[in-house]
Amino acid sequence: MAESDIQRGSWNSKAGFIIAAAGSAIGLGNIWRFPYVAGENGGAAFVILYILFVILIGLPVMIAELAIGRHTHKNPIGAFSRLFPKSNWKLIGIMGVVTGIGILSFYSVIAGYTIGYFVKLLSGQLNAISGPAESQQIFATFTADPYVSIGYLFVFLIFTAYIVLGGVSTGIEKWTKILMPLLFVLLIILAIRSITLDGAVKGLEFYLNPDFSKIRPSTLAKALGQALFSLSLGMGAMITYGSYLSKRDNIISSAVSVCFFDTLIAILAGLVVFPALFAMGMDPAGGPGLVFIVLPSIFHKIPGGMYFGAGIFLLLSVAALTSTISLLEVAVSYFVDEKRWTRQKATIIMTITAFICGIPAALSFGSVEWLSRLPLFHIGMLDLMNAVFGNYSLALGSLLIAVFTGYKWGINAVKTEIEEHGNRFGPFGLWAFTIRFLCPIAIAIILGYILITGHYF
Ligand code: PFF
Repeated sequence: MAESDIQRGSWNSKAGFIIAAAGSAIGLGNIWRFPYVAGENGGAAFVILYILFVILIGLPVMIAELAIGRHTHKNPIGAFSRLFPKSNWKLIGIMGVVTGIGILSFYSVIAGYTIGYFVKLLSGQLNAISGPAESQQIFATFTADPYVSIGYLFVFLIFTAYIVLGGVSTGIEKWTKILMPLLFVLLIILAIRSITLDGAVKGLEFYLNPDFSKIRPSTLAKALGQALFSLSLGMGAMITYGSYLSKRDNIISSAVSVCFFDTLIAILAGLVVFPALFAMGMDPAGGPGLVFIVLPSIFHKIPGGMYFGAGIFLLLSVAALTSTISLLEVAVSYFVDEKRWTRQKATIIMTITAFICGIPAALSFGSVEWLSRLPLFHIGMLDLMNAVFGNYSLALGSLLIAVFTGYKWGINAVKTEIEEHGNRFGPFGLWAFTIRFLCPIAIAIILGYILITGHYF
């Protein structure tokens, strides 16, 4: 390894990489975002589209991002400039850094709420919830307090910055390795409780029995956006993480594992939310507050439920943290590599930027009227940032990454990178077809249609 690479750090082991990349992928996207977006978009039919997009678009783009990252050992902007100096391809990377900070800003607001709910549960404030109506009221009151929203946003970003300051392997691996499997176990227990509630069957039906007449062009755009968001694709997070991979690691099997575990957790989160939601007679299109309303309404149906609930929200905060560190890391690695900033300076400045951009999103749950329902858009600030950065920007980024690897850098360069140290790229032909044709065409059609019809949200 060259000395500059040693200074950048690398993963302690192959498992370390998979765990960290899965840590980036698994987060609020799976447990907070997936259930409510699926709920708003018709349930099972959305879920099927989502899975198709993970396999047909997410996986090939992830392979491309990891290969670019490992080949160049660079951040997303540096990677494109190293491959094609002085070309405009580095705009993909610039868009990625901006998107990363954009997502970090609103994501940390919700992540802050998970810490808030952990505190509430632990201090017994949610013990006596009578049902979903009360749960809804508690969420509305909690999030409408500007000091609470901004305070928790701040606390969460400080945690993120603290870990990013520690560097790659010491910081990220240590946390993820222990806590993600625990989250998985708690979710399974919760899913079992949810499925065994009276009236849960209607929820299972909504979630698992597709009604294809519910699919609209905007459903396609949302399922695509959700798949990319959930897998941390389209903005260079996987380029950055791939840049810390060693040549011996197998990119294909790593990518398959990350996609598999990420999808598993999302599906599991749906199995927790929908049966309980229907059992309690709630509306599946409940919006961004959905998990914060549904989960506390079932904790008291489990022995020791409040502590169990505190555990779930704590682990959810940790899952969010392993995702926000990857969002911040994209921008930090850019300023460290390209602008020669110290890690400390880059981390502090980017964290402050995300905090400032996050404030309007933090105020959009009722504390400031016009931010809660923006004129012109008719949605709240957090929803707008979620759609722009968390959907469309990732889709555009993935489209450009597919075109770049398919036509500019070239499919054979990717093959060489993947096979360099004796690993085989088995389904190369299939991958080449998807990256050159399927991904760009499907994403372009979806984005084009949305652009023409104006059904953005
Ligand atoms: N994949 C994360 C989640 O599902 O919570 C969110 C995310 C992280 C998106 C990193 C994009 C990214 F680059």
